[in-house]
Amino acid sequence: MGRRDRQAGTFSSPLFSRFLYPRFKEASIKHGEPERRRRLLDGVTGKVIEIGAGDGMNIDYYPPSVNELLAVEPEDTLRAKAAEKAPTAPFPVRVEPGFADRLPAEDDSFDVAVCSLVLCSVDDQGAALAEIQRVLRPSGELRFYEHVRGHTRALIGAQHLITPVWSRLGGGCHINRDTETAIEQTGFTIGRIDRFVLAPSLLDRLGGDHIMGVARA
Ligand SMILES: C[S@@+](CC[C@H](N)C(=O)[O-])C[C@H]1O[C@@H](n2cnc3c(N)ncnc32)[C@H](O)[C@@H]1O
Repeated sequence: MGRRDRQAGTFSSPLFSRFLYPRFKEASIKHGEPERRRRLLDGVTGKVIEIGAGDGMNIDYYPPSVNELLAVEPEDTLRAKAAEKAPTAPFPVRVEPGFADRLPAEDDSFDVAVCSLVLCSVDDQGAALAEIQRVLRPSGELRFYEHVRGHTRALIGAQHLITPVWSRLGGGCHINRDTETAIEQTGFTIGRIDRFVLAPSLLDRLGGDHIMGVARA
């Protein structure tokens, strides 16, 4: 991970944002990502906050029932791209810097929070999820789509071994996190969860286990 300014809510990770993320995104689009994003965001309504919004990829997939979106993204290059994309949405989009554990938002101020492939990268999942709960109204929705710890002992062992290197190269991404448990331990109630393996290549199998679903604050 590159330079980081906690106060400003920013960091810069050029290898990740200019090289790895665009390639990952292009490959995922070829392997069905648009359909998964639509599924993640299907039926989302009202005031929405997206945490770690990247280059604003999800903007293309939100339904028109969204009233407004605050897209929070700490990485400088990705945030600039999200800001370029914002005017293409059919609803107002504000793009702001910020880390998941210190969101630029009031208590109880959002109907829905969206995390896609971001809880793998935050420093402290518990702190990030508690902060998301703070900004959601009571019974507000957390929509999540995350890659998670594998489903076999061999895979989990390999993930533990490789995570320190993977994380350094991949903008802080951890492939060995039990995100479902972290969501529940924060006090969210999971209403719907799908588990699936996405492994278009052998290398992808290392981070291939995914979850997608809805939890209530
Ligand atoms: C794999 S990318 C996913 C981006 C986007 N959510 C998507 O679905 O395409 C991970 C994102 O998490 C962001 N991120 C990393 N650490 C973060 C933190 N502590 N708080 C919020 N976002 C963070 C990265 O800058 C990056 O945009």
